[in-house]
Amino acid sequence: MYRSKTCGELRMNNVGEKVTLAGWVQRTRKMGGMTFVDLRDRYGITQLVFNQEANAELCERANRLGREFVIQVEGVVNERFSKNDKMPTGDVEIIVSALNVLNEALTPPFTIEENTDGGDDLRMKYRYIDLRREVVRKNLELRHKFCIEVRRFLDSKGFLEIETPVLVGSTPEGARDFIVPSRMNPGCFYALPQSPQTLKQLLMVAGMDRYFQIVKCFRDEDLRADRQPEFTQIDCEMSFVEQDDIIKTFEEMTKYLFKTVRGVDLGEQPFLRLSWNEAMRRFGSDKPDMRFGMEFVELMDVLKGTGDFGVFNEAAYIGGICATGCAEYTRKQLDELTNFVKSPQIGAKGLVYARVNEDGSVKSSVDKFYTPEVLEKLKEAMQAKPGDLILIISGDDAMRARKQLCELRLQMGSRLGLRDKNKFALLWVVDFPMFEWSDEEGRLMAMHHPFTAPKPEDVEKLDTDPASVKANAYDMVCNGVEVGGGSIRIHDAVLQAKIFDVLGFTPEKAQEQFGFLMNAFKYGAPPHGGLAYGLDRWVSIFAGLDSIRDCIAFPKNNAGRDVMLDAPSHVDQKQLDELQIDLRPTEA
Ligand code: AMO
Repeated sequence: MYRSKTCGELRMNNVGEKVTLAGWVQRTRKMGGMTFVDLRDRYGITQLVFNQEANAELCERANRLGREFVIQVEGVVNERFSKNDKMPTGDVEIIVSALNVLNEALTPPFTIEENTDGGDDLRMKYRYIDLRREVVRKNLELRHKFCIEVRRFLDSKGFLEIETPVLVGSTPEGARDFIVPSRMNPGCFYALPQSPQTLKQLLMVAGMDRYFQIVKCFRDEDLRADRQPEFTQIDCEMSFVEQDDIIKTFEEMTKYLFKTVRGVDLGEQPFLRLSWNEAMRRFGSDKPDMRFGMEFVELMDVLKGTGDFGVFNEAAYIGGICATGCAEYTRKQLDELTNFVKSPQIGAKGLVYARVNEDGSVKSSVDKFYTPEVLEKLKEAMQAKPGDLILIISGDDAMRARKQLCELRLQMGSRLGLRDKNKFALLWVVDFPMFEWSDEEGRLMAMHHPFTAPKPEDVEKLDTDPASVKANAYDMVCNGVEVGGGSIRIHDAVLQAKIFDVLGFTPEKAQEQFGFLMNAFKYGAPPHGGLAYGLDRWVSIFAGLDSIRDCIAFPKNNAGRDVMLDAPSHVDQKQLDELQIDLRPTEA
């Protein structure tokens, strides 16, 4: 037996027991004739004591232990003279009688502490050492607990967990696919699934009624803090349901998860539902952070054509937010905000501000263009109080200007400490447009995916005005993050063919790409719908993390690389030959 106890479980009631522990050396301290070693495993840290006087040889060996050596010790649990109330095992220590070095270790490239000295790249290269840090390990424990509770809940509601294949066919919609060459079918490629969307729909045709899967999905897209090229979905589908049934089921699951995993009671009230139009109008985002207000006020009536400011007079949208108590912002702070909105990622042309002074008068950066009466109207429209700072963004593309104002709102929310990680604001965004125009593709694209059902009342507009058609789709948003999304699906082959037509597929192309689904619909498809949650996003919100990478055991970096495995990498010519693949010389 390597151990009789773990390093996290000994307490005062174990005093006097003889125990065997095994783990890693966190650190050693020599104090006079005594040597103290902190022994760590997944469960905690226990202090070991070696006494020069009692056993000089043993103590000498302890002095030679290096950080991260793997050791086994035998000894008796003793009450500590100076207790450490910061550690669960801090009341006791082990008086060691035998020491066995199981494995020596090189000095780790960074310290295994909460605030490590290791930079991101180094930590990722040695992720197996990084995972020894309690802060990182805790995220994986949380992830485990989350998955267990998801399974428990969905099982209680009759969902079946069914696996779907990882080698599937490439489809043209959505993000870019990762593709895999097939040796047995030269010149042909599998794709890794961006989600099991069509397969779960086929499971509904197969009569499975309620399906779920905690499943890896793969998307070759630009990475951000909340995006990984391979990530995990909690993918769900239900038959004989309408939008409300799905929303009710997953609202219940969300409340259950908050309670059991995070210890937060979200109450009895149903979550807020905002239409996509309203979310865009009030927050400039389809995933508004509702932990704070600072809603947009449209200022076209107040500022367009009411003064000599050309930028506003030509704008398609002028909107403002009101930052409470920020009228005292210094020139430097305002310059920072201006630079922020003008940065390439945000791309606004500029920022106009107006301070409301203590006497109620307004002082703005565009004073010279407007009469005091107009500025007074601005104050009224914004419902601004003395001490407030009004921030205004305009643009000739209304949607883009709204998104820029959204970034500014989030920035101000962060600056004012309004985005508390221990506060949770959940909502559903519903009634999404069915299509969005893609400049890159020069055609309408499905905003959700091409299997989403249009609102029944909008079906007839598919021929006349497809851009105005609304989808029977919904996203769940938590703290400004899209944690999940889904829709009621089309279950009728004729309507599905119509949607492919609007998306610019010829009937032949649609048949080639999605024939399997449209054919299945001819064999008795039930009405169905579902949704998928981003597991990584949920766990990172529950853990209060800034990036989903920190709750993934072996994540990719921003360039999509696994620096530990050094993947992706070149392969042998022999492998390429077998696959009949010729590589073009790569550009230097
Ligand atoms: P969607 O594309 O909205 O829908 O994805 C569902 C959820 O998955 C998460 N997500 C991601 N998480 C991390 N990294 C990524 N690159 C990434 N992309 C998406 C998000 C998102 O809300 N088949 C549909 C679902 C359905 O209609 O049932 C789908 O995949 O949290």
